[in-house]
This record gives sequence, C-alpha cells and structure tokens, in this order.
Amino acid sequence: MEKNNGRGSFSGKLGYVLATAGSAVGLGNIWRFPYLAAKYGGGAFLLVYIVLALTFGYTMILSETALGRMTGKSPVGAFTTLGKGRAVRAGGWINAIIPMLIVPYYSVIGGWVVRYLWGYLTSGAAAMASDDMFTGFLASPWAVEVCFLVFAAMTMLVIFGGVQNGIEKVSRIMMPLLAVLTLVVVGFSVTRPGALAGVKYFLVPDFKRLSLMTVVSALGQMFYSLSIAMGILITFGSYTKPDVDIEQTTGQVEIFDTAIAILAGLMVIPAVFAFSGGDTAALNKGPALMFVTLPKVFESMGGAWIGLLFFLLVLMAALTSSVSLAESVCATFEDELHWSRPRAAALVSVILAALGSLSCLGFNTLNHIAPMGMDILSFFDFLTNSVMMPIAAAAICLLILRVVGLKEMEAEISRSSRFKRRKVYRFVLRYLSLALLAVILISSILDAFGMISI
Ligand code: PHE
Repeated sequence: MEKNNGRGSFSGKLGYVLATAGSAVGLGNIWRFPYLAAKYGGGAFLLVYIVLALTFGYTMILSETALGRMTGKSPVGAFTTLGKGRAVRAGGWINAIIPMLIVPYYSVIGGWVVRYLWGYLTSGAAAMASDDMFTGFLASPWAVEVCFLVFAAMTMLVIFGGVQNGIEKVSRIMMPLLAVLTLVVVGFSVTRPGALAGVKYFLVPDFKRLSLMTVVSALGQMFYSLSIAMGILITFGSYTKPDVDIEQTTGQVEIFDTAIAILAGLMVIPAVFAFSGGDTAALNKGPALMFVTLPKVFESMGGAWIGLLFFLLVLMAALTSSVSLAESVCATFEDELHWSRPRAAALVSVILAALGSLSCLGFNTLNHIAPMGMDILSFFDFLTNSVMMPIAAAAICLLILRVVGLKEMEAEISRSSRFKRRKVYRFVLRYLSLALLAVILISSILDAFGMISI
C-alpha cells in the first residue's frame, strides 16, 4: 500500500484483489468449509453455498467496497459520514467489533496449524496421523496456549511492523502454490479406495439432506469465507481508487475463494470416506475434521514433507486473513479514537491474548464452562457468525436501503464498472437480504437454545 495524505491506498487493481483474496482465503476455506459441508448435507450444502455466494455474497462485497470507496473511511466513519443518529453509529460499530472477537479464536486455530507444522518437522507423518494426536494436543493447556501465542505474535508482528507490503508479495507466490498443492492432494485423496462415495456425497446434491440448518450454516460460512460484514471490505474499499472496476474484482475474488473451498472439500471429504467408511460420526467431527483426516492422507502419501508443505501454505493463508482482521480493528481504533498505530496495536494485542487464551483453555482447564453447550471457541464462532454477523449485514443493507438509497449506490458502482449483474444486485437488496438475515438470526438462536432442532 502506498501512503497518500496519511491514508494508505492500494497501488491499483492488483493490490486490491490480492489484499481481498488474501483476507478471504484462509482457514475458513480449508478448515471450516469442509467440516460444515460434511456435517450439513454434502452436495446440498455445496449447491446452496454457490448460489448464495453468486447472489448475496456478490451483492454484499460490492456494497461494502463501494461504501468504503464513497466515504474513504473504515466502518464506523463510513456509517456516520452517510447518516445520522445512534442507530447508524451502532450499525458501524457492530461491523467494527466483530473482527475483534474473531481474531482471537481464529489465532487459536492458527496455533493448531503451527502445532502440526512443528510436528511434521520433528516427529514425522506417522505420529501426526495417530488417532489421539489431536485430542492429546487439545487436552494440554500449555501446548495449545503456546501455539496460539506463536500465531498471534506473527500476526501482530505484521501489524506493528506495517509490513503488509511484504506479506502481499509473499502471498502472491503462496496463493497459487497453495492452489497447486491442494490439487495434488485432491488427486491423491479422491483415488483412495472407497473415496468415490465421498466425492459423490460432496458433489451430488441429495435434497433429502437439505434442511434449514443447511441454509443457515451455508450463509454463515459464505459471509465468513468472503470476509463479509466484518468491516474489512469497507476498510479495503476506502483504500481503493475510483477507477478500479470493483464489479470485476468482486467476481475474481468470489471465484477464487469458492474454488479453494471446493478443492478443500474434495481433499477432506473423500478422505473421510476412504479412512472411515463415511459413517456419520466421522462426518460430524466438526472443527477437528481437517486435523484428524488430512494427516492420514499425508501418511499414506508417504512422507512428512507433504504435510510440512501443506501446513506451511495453510499457515500463510491463515496469516493473511488474521492480519486483515487485526488491521481492520486497528484502523477503527486509529480513526475513531484518534490513537497512534502502536497504541491501537497494543490494545489489539491485549484483547487478542486475553480472549484467545480463554478459547485455548476451553478445551482443557476450563472445559466445564460450556456456554449453550459449546466449548468456548465454538461459542465465539457461533456468537460472531450466527448472531452478530446477520445483524451487521442487516445494518449495511438498511444503511443502503434507508439512508444512502439504492440509486446512489448503483451510481457509485457504475462509476467504474459496467454493472452487468445490476438486476441481481437490486433484487437481493430489495427483496431477499433482510428476510434471509432475519431467518438466520432467529433460527440459529432458537437452535442454540434447543428450542427447535434444525
Ligand atoms: N475469510 C477468512 C477465511 O476464510 C476469515 C476471515 C473472516 C477473515 C472474517 C477476515 C474476516 O479464513
């Protein structure tokens, strides 16, 4: 990013696409997507996900980027520049606060990646593939905490050092490499005996498996994976020059992000079938799925090197995402509280260490604390993605519909783009967005309290 008048700006289209793709592609694609797809209906989940990404996701990315570009501000500033009153301000703040709650638990999972990377370096593929490797690791408070702190420190080092430029350059090489390596693992995974049933489960929609929870979780995942409703895209939009075709860039990011998620699904789900016959217990493993299944694949691929390379690339992808999360929070503190960057970054570090440690301990020392029956990490994930995210997204939609006006938004987007999907954009915002968001919010809360089972 170049500095201009005190505010960074991307050098051009490529800078924007790289930063946005770097933020989008991360643990959400590789760790979260496969386990949700496995749990909530396989092909049905995938289909719903793709439809939502092309309609709702597209509309939200475009809207947030345009709002940022219009105002030149991070979320709170963008909201208050455009409208007045407490409700508008609150809408900005909820978008700004979500990343602060995500980055700690995100870094805990980043820590798991660090642990596996270390394991492949020091103990070899067989040890990493053993059945109690993962549970044994989670049961040890110190191990989980130390790995979390290593990942968190890497994130904050980038933020303090302001070496975004460096990380952009690294991700330029790492991202394509990750895509290629994923393809290689997919090739191996789908050719294991018994894996084909998994390919079918993941790619062919079986509508008997379609439930309300499929839609709810696909929508939450879509927002998470594309970094929507977290203030990030508004902030990035504010660094974007007026001549960047944001419709085109949105399409590119969306396709790349979805492609990586699908590849990750093809890597993990067929392997679940190959190694455990696809029984429901294995498919419902949840957050542990990738960490339990992939090491088995790597072991049968014959060597620690593949695990090492894989987790290294995942680590990089995770870092570009966590940096974007922390960056967005820092930008809010700097803009709204008029703090210096080191001071803002120091506060982020403290919150990160405190909340992240809580999530770490939730698996061991504090495992008796189970808010709504979830471990602490899953609770933060639920709170941000299923409760706060729909509210934040609704705030954006309401800002556009009630305050800025659809016409104004379309004019801003048309400044730089032909706006081919204008009709979709309008339809989603006018008729679909708020209703869908309300459905997710209500059903996920009722589900969490056990009032309905979806
Ligand atoms: N999109 C990132 C991923 O898929 C995670 C993330 C969520 C990043 C929210 C920024 C904001 O891993």
